[in-house]
This record gives sequence, C-alpha cells and structure tokens, in this order.
Amino acid sequence: RRIAILISGRGSNMEALITAAAGADFPAEIVTVISNHPDAAGLQIARGHGIETVAIPHHDHVDRAAHEVEIGRVLAECRPDIVCLAGYMRLLTPRFVATWEGRMINIHPSLLPAFPGLHTHRRALLQGVRVHGCTVHFVTEAMDDGPIIAQAAVPVLSGDTENSLAVRVLLAEHKLYPMALSMVARGEVSMRDGRAVFSGTGD
Ligand code: GRF
Repeated sequence: RRIAILISGRGSNMEALITAAAGADFPAEIVTVISNHPDAAGLQIARGHGIETVAIPHHDHVDRAAHEVEIGRVLAECRPDIVCLAGYMRLLTPRFVATWEGRMINIHPSLLPAFPGLHTHRRALLQGVRVHGCTVHFVTEAMDDGPIIAQAAVPVLSGDTENSLAVRVLLAEHKLYPMALSMVARGEVSMRDGRAVFSGTGD
C-alpha cells in the first residue's frame, strides 16, 4: 500500500511511520510527506530518509478549500492508498474528508473520546485522570471523533508535569501509529457505515 503523510511540525510520528515502513515485513511504503508549513522540522527529517516532500503553505490560498485542492493535486500525482495525518494542525473540510473516507487516519494524544482538541496532557492532569494515552482513528467530519482503530494506555504518575506526561504518551504514539497503520494497510480493520470493522485479528 502507498502512504502519504500530512504534517505541520516536528514530525516525530511521521518518522516513526517512515522507520517502521522501512522494515521488510511492513505492508506499506511512505511515498510522500506534505506539510502546510514549509519550515516544518519534519520535512527535513523526511528528506533525510529519502522521502519526497512537498510544502503547500495554506497562506498562499484564498481559503481552506483552495488549499485542499492543491493538496488533492499532489495526492493525485502520488496516488496513495492511505493518508496519515501526523500532527497535521489544519481542520479538513467535509468534502476532503469524504474524498478519503475510510482511507485517512489520524493520531491523537488522548484516549478518545476523552479530551478531543488541543492541550490534552494539561487537561488530563487538571481532570485528575490516572490513565491517559493515545488513539489512532479513521478521520471523519467531526474533529478527533472517527471510529477508533487502536489505543494505547499510559499511566499518569504522581509528580507528572504536562511535559513529562507528553513525553510518555509520545513514546506510546510512536509504537501505536505504525501498528495501527499496518492493520489498516493489511485490511485487518476498515471503516463501514461509520464504524471500525475488525477482521482476521481475533479482535
Ligand atoms: C502528536 O502528539 C500527535 O498525537 C498530535 O500532534 C503531535 C504531533 O507530534 N496530533 P509530531 O509532529 O508527530 O512529533
């Protein structure tokens, strides 16, 4: 399967996917990395791995839809089967989401449906949860709301700060995302009627 990754920044999840995909048994190859920020650190990292990168600054476009048309043009050229959002910080229009329905996945740093949106670690600490984590899900119109593919739980430890908790969750993300992508690429999970349907995994 051919994979495109959309990023906005650091790109550590993107790198985890690239590294996993370089493994012999991984069922997918990363064909392109697209960023809406030309100076995203992740673009350099991707190039360092010999992956084609494309910067499509959103400021160059009159609106969200026009920006997505340009992304769509790049995707049409590299023909991915699956699009992975990895720290892609732009909301997507219903039209773009519909185009990639069941073929676009995202990683979110909380155990959804808890803490959709931003500042998840700070909110988890304020809320006093003792278990936090991360989620990979199919992308649907509502933000951080699609059918769940995989989750990893991470303990909240006494004395945790927003940063220490973020670091622990990020390590879990780097394991979870490649695993979830391989499940989707192998067809072990797919989206049907707005739900994740699992097959062949005993799940
Ligand atoms: C990750 O925590 C991811 O879950 C969230 O944004 C962050 C991106 O980090 N969506 P990176 O760019 O993958 O390092």
